[in-house]
Amino acid sequence: MCGITGYIGTEPAGEIVHQGLKNLEYRGYDSAGIALTSDTLSIHKTEGEVDELPVPSRDDVDCGIGHTRWSTHGEPTTENAHPHTDCTGDIAVVHNGIIENYDELKASLRATHVFESETDTEVIPHLIEDHLADDISLRSAVQRTTEQLEGSYAIAVTAAGHDGVVVAREDSPLLLGHSDDATYIGSDATAFIEHTNRVTYLESGDLAKLTADTITIYNDGEPVTRDTETLDWDADAAGKSGYEHYMLKEIHEQPRALRQAISGRVDDLSTSVDLDVDLPAEYLQSVEEIQIIACGTSYHAGLYAADLLEEHADVRTSVEIASEYDFTGGRDPWRTLVVAITQSGETADTLSALREAERAGARTLALTNTLGSTVTREADDTVFIRAGPEIGVAATKTFVSQVATATLLAVYLGQVRNTLSTETASELLSGVRDLPGAVQQILDQENAIKKTAQEYAGSDAFFYIGRRSGYPVALESALKLKEISYDHAEGFPSGELKHGPLALVTPDTPVIALLTAGTAPKKTLNNVKEVKSRGAPVIGVSSNPETTSHVDTTFDVPNCGPMEPVVANVALQLFAYYVADEKDRPIDKPRNLAKSVTVE
Ligand code: F6R
Repeated sequence: MCGITGYIGTEPAGEIVHQGLKNLEYRGYDSAGIALTSDTLSIHKTEGEVDELPVPSRDDVDCGIGHTRWSTHGEPTTENAHPHTDCTGDIAVVHNGIIENYDELKASLRATHVFESETDTEVIPHLIEDHLADDISLRSAVQRTTEQLEGSYAIAVTAAGHDGVVVAREDSPLLLGHSDDATYIGSDATAFIEHTNRVTYLESGDLAKLTADTITIYNDGEPVTRDTETLDWDADAAGKSGYEHYMLKEIHEQPRALRQAISGRVDDLSTSVDLDVDLPAEYLQSVEEIQIIACGTSYHAGLYAADLLEEHADVRTSVEIASEYDFTGGRDPWRTLVVAITQSGETADTLSALREAERAGARTLALTNTLGSTVTREADDTVFIRAGPEIGVAATKTFVSQVATATLLAVYLGQVRNTLSTETASELLSGVRDLPGAVQQILDQENAIKKTAQEYAGSDAFFYIGRRSGYPVALESALKLKEISYDHAEGFPSGELKHGPLALVTPDTPVIALLTAGTAPKKTLNNVKEVKSRGAPVIGVSSNPETTSHVDTTFDVPNCGPMEPVVANVALQLFAYYVADEKDRPIDKPRNLAKSVTVE
């Protein structure tokens, strides 16, 4: 949450930093600001979205930093917007993360400094101001300041009369982009991807001094070198390509994302899977339990994956909401593999759970979309889901790619552990190979799904029901609808309705039933009858024409065996999108939410 960008080069910085903020708006959009420096510092801030911030018109300034905010401390006002400055107005700081000891620091600074915001960040420029009074360099002043901070941060600092920008990170992500005549700063590569795909990921504890043509990175005060990587992204991948919203574009990108997830990993001629896993086979054979840790949509992908892992790798698998995770219960850490599922690789709750597992001595594996993200550095091993950049706040293509990749992981572990027959492996892999085509068949029904969504958009409460792997899809589909339409939506195991939630079912509460293969559709049809007799309209998502007569509307899912529920989810992504579109919601930037949640 919160996006940081910056530019030091030969062009006017204002326009480039402003565009960087537009690119990053999905990380937070309640206020935004830019600082430009030369001999003087100018600050440009607004409450609200980046579009409300005029592009700064200082053509003579080629160094600047910017920030788009998702508030954690203080209201989303102009005063609380970053950059924050010191008492002289010469030092500007943008910050992502949380300074945990800010109360203490603020109390000690208050006698000699004037604070203008309610943010934790504002202590940073004032601390730097004090250190600069000792006549040291900006780099040394930032170094001393970071030694006083507790918590997580990615910061960029610029000051009038000091050349370039100083950046530092502890836990929160920060990377640098390189072109021939400029250095870019980003909390992720989307900030500057139209300018360069050559990047350096800073590590926790790194501090760097940046000018247009030099970058010097320090850790613990000592110079260090970090690799430069070339990202396999282009500007188009991060743009909207003519779609009205990123979410719609990303829904349509799913066949391609799935092909990328599968490509080179499944041998067409045999049933073997290669995920480039470094954890030794002997260890994987000895694992007695898998714990999946994740949040939100990734948690739903975890629920889907858990059934596959239990069944095919024959290993007890639990799924824990990362923010609730605790490594307890007499488990043997040496025999427990903890799998963190996180598209961003930066979710604070998931990272904190991962660290708890590592402290207990468990081995860890990350399933993520983001190269160079914190989870890839902290887990023992990583498998990438290869979905490409996802900008829409509501996760879509990363969910299906997580499920596809987790299915490959289940096959891989089943083979390593010798618990999976060739026939079942072949059936699962052909289901995965068929996924892109099956998803395309759903996308081809877009107009019909849109029409149904428009018919149902007048309702303001929806229930989703499903059994087995239909249940995580019910949860995920309800989450999608609630985040972007603001309607009340809940997912239930089909059989649970009658144990309480049925009291809420009326002719005004549409019920969406997952009736695809492998979800015990006949049993769910009994629950459909229960809700229909209370007058609720029912949408069935099904691959079986026989179910059609029991529901009011059907979304047809092509036959693709064990993967049908995830294909059904794509129909329900479109349904959620068009309900929200009908209500004219800000689909890519739903209220109160941000793409990457880097606070606990
Ligand atoms: C919902 C959504 C969130 C994320 C959750 C975890 O559409 O995107 O629920 O799934 O914040 O994020 P990651 O996967 O980045 O750890």
